Amino acid sequence: MIKESEYKKRRTKLAKKLSNNSVALLFSAKAKVRSNDTNYLYRQDSNFYYLTGFKEDNACLVFLKSRKKIKTILFVQKKDAQEELWNGKRLGVVEAKKRFLFDEVRVSSDLKKSVKEFCKDKENLYFDFTKETPKIKKSVKRNFIAHYDISIFIKEMRLIKSKAEIKFIKKAIKITKKAHHNAMKFKKIGSGENELLAKIEYTFKKNGAYSDAYTSIVACGDSANTLHYISNNKDLKNKELILIDAGCEYDYYASDITRTIPVNGKFTKAQRDLYELVLDTQKKVIEMIKPKILRSDLQKKAEILLVDGMIKLGIMSGKRNKLIKKLAHKKYYPHGIGHWMGLDVHDEAPYFDKNKKEIALRENMILTIEPGIYISKDDKNVPKKFRGIGIRIEDDIQVTKRSHKNLSKKIAKSIEEVEAKSRRT
Ligand code: GLY
Ligand code: MN
Ligand code: MN
Repeated sequence: MIKESEYKKRRTKLAKKLSNNSVALLFSAKAKVRSNDTNYLYRQDSNFYYLTGFKEDNACLVFLKSRKKIKTILFVQKKDAQEELWNGKRLGVVEAKKRFLFDEVRVSSDLKKSVKEFCKDKENLYFDFTKETPKIKKSVKRNFIAHYDISIFIKEMRLIKSKAEIKFIKKAIKITKKAHHNAMKFKKIGSGENELLAKIEYTFKKNGAYSDAYTSIVACGDSANTLHYISNNKDLKNKELILIDAGCEYDYYASDITRTIPVNGKFTKAQRDLYELVLDTQKKVIEMIKPKILRSDLQKKAEILLVDGMIKLGIMSGKRNKLIKKLAHKKYYPHGIGHWMGLDVHDEAPYFDKNKKEIALRENMILTIEPGIYISKDDKNVPKKFRGIGIRIEDDIQVTKRSHKNLSKKIAKSIEEVEAKSRRT
């Protein structure tokens, strides 16, 4: 559990950044229609959740700041027996007031009226401009001298994870570890990507995860060369590799793990050569992680190592630096080395400061490291044995005071470990 006092501290920290004489309005996520009258599983907006810990729909967080005094008000849906019969229990005003540390709790149906009252003598209005917000936004906006995007401050705060947040991320990774190990053990020949995916999702849910943190990728053979392959509906073919990019979300915190494993439990020589290159690159890049290092340094290192390796394997030809300069490697390694991770898998935290300077690593940031090589089955410039292979290896790393911790290091990764796990079917 993240304590109410931690949420309150976050609100106080944020409120200090707001101009005097201001109102800030932050809205909960809207329920999303899947089709006709059925919805997707509801998930709270991450910025809203970060500041409130409140998981219900139709809610609003208001900050009022004048003469340096700060007041916070949470608007929640009112209790309604009929609504709750169909859609689940609501906390309601009385319980929300008891549970949370807001100065006031009111019912959402009073929001419009209350906003008028709040806005009367204020000059500055803050919104989360990155989110869809209700009509109320338009109606109050014109009464203000200045409008600001509050999400910038929240995203900055989300860069550094607290102890409690790291605990949740570790729990998500622990469940994800089980899912990847179950995938390795799963009898794959004669089965399909979707069955393997079901095994992974089953493991997530069985172990208490709310859902996946993103739509999983289970990509056999050449499918792995489509970076966002989410159809997951082909057969698992003997002698091919399966790229599995799957991570669960545990109580709002993400994990993001990729393993690439052989269908029949054994890597071929060509698969092995490519796999060792990606793995060696990943290990060396992870080794560099410590405070003050730049993500772009990690990217450069990955590019150098991958290009050197691909030249050696006869996949690329020419001089390494020249190839990198003309972005020739992008054909085989088109994505970034990693990203922030937290409440969102691609955590909404900045990579550059307000002067456009790259933000260096700091203690308790969490990022993924995920080099890959992708060779299309139709790429005639590459030795035949490598065609149709896509490999990515991804772990979740915490920056520590002097170095780093690989939070997912217990998930089998070396060829020996993966093959050993695959044998235990
Ligand atoms: N699973 C999304 C990513 O690796 O960035
Ligand atoms: Mn990732
Ligand atoms: Mn991933």
